[in-house]
Amino acid sequence: MTDRTAPAAHPIAPVLAARWSPRSFEDRAVPDAALAQVLEAARWAASCVNDQPWNYIVARKDREPEAHARLFACLSANNQGWAGRAPVLILGIARTHFAANGNPNRHAAYDLGQATANLAAQAAATGLQVHQMAGFDAAKAREAFAIPEGFDPLVMVALGHPGPAEALPEALAARETAPRMRKPIGEFVHLGAWGSTGAP
Ligand SMILES: Cc1cc2nc3c(=O)[nH]c(=O)nc-3n(C[C@H](O)[C@H](O)[C@H](O)COP(=O)(O)O)c2cc1C
Repeated sequence: MTDRTAPAAHPIAPVLAARWSPRSFEDRAVPDAALAQVLEAARWAASCVNDQPWNYIVARKDREPEAHARLFACLSANNQGWAGRAPVLILGIARTHFAANGNPNRHAAYDLGQATANLAAQAAATGLQVHQMAGFDAAKAREAFAIPEGFDPLVMVALGHPGPAEALPEALAARETAPRMRKPIGEFVHLGAWGSTGAP
């Protein structure tokens, strides 16, 4: 399997270094226990006033093939070029107003992101990986799954066992093995004042 461990400049938790976003997936199902584990990890994310605004439509290719095909049909052409191999497709949806009082929740997307980051880290810890996607038609997904107003389809997630890069078309295989890049800490940390960028 492709080794994509993050070349971190400082030691980070092994599971965070192990997480990456493959486009090649093995043609085998995700065991129920593993799927439950990654969803449980999402469940334990922090959220604003513990509102837990996340919702996930989960479609397993072998068990919910029709829903899997419907989610696949919502993806952009680029993502359709590889994501159909994933044995599980997931649509992440944020409830936009607080359950307790109906007020708008400015942090709903943030909380869905935190839950999905937990899901991704747990997947990596379980020998799986996810690939998150913004490239999908949210209006089409809303219609296809009768998602009511007040719920925002925000991200599609491909989940499975990462497969060999060689299984992909050439251009995608090259991306699968390209060096992993990140900005240095000193570019996004502002020490004590906006604009005082620098590493601690
Ligand atoms: C919200 C979000 C949307 C993304 N959308 C897409 C997408 O539509 N297609 C795609 O191929 N990758 C997508 N990605 C994957 C990113 O390109 C990837 O996370 C980034 O290049 C860093 O690579 P890594 O996850 O392997 O560390 C998305 C990631 C996130 C978090």
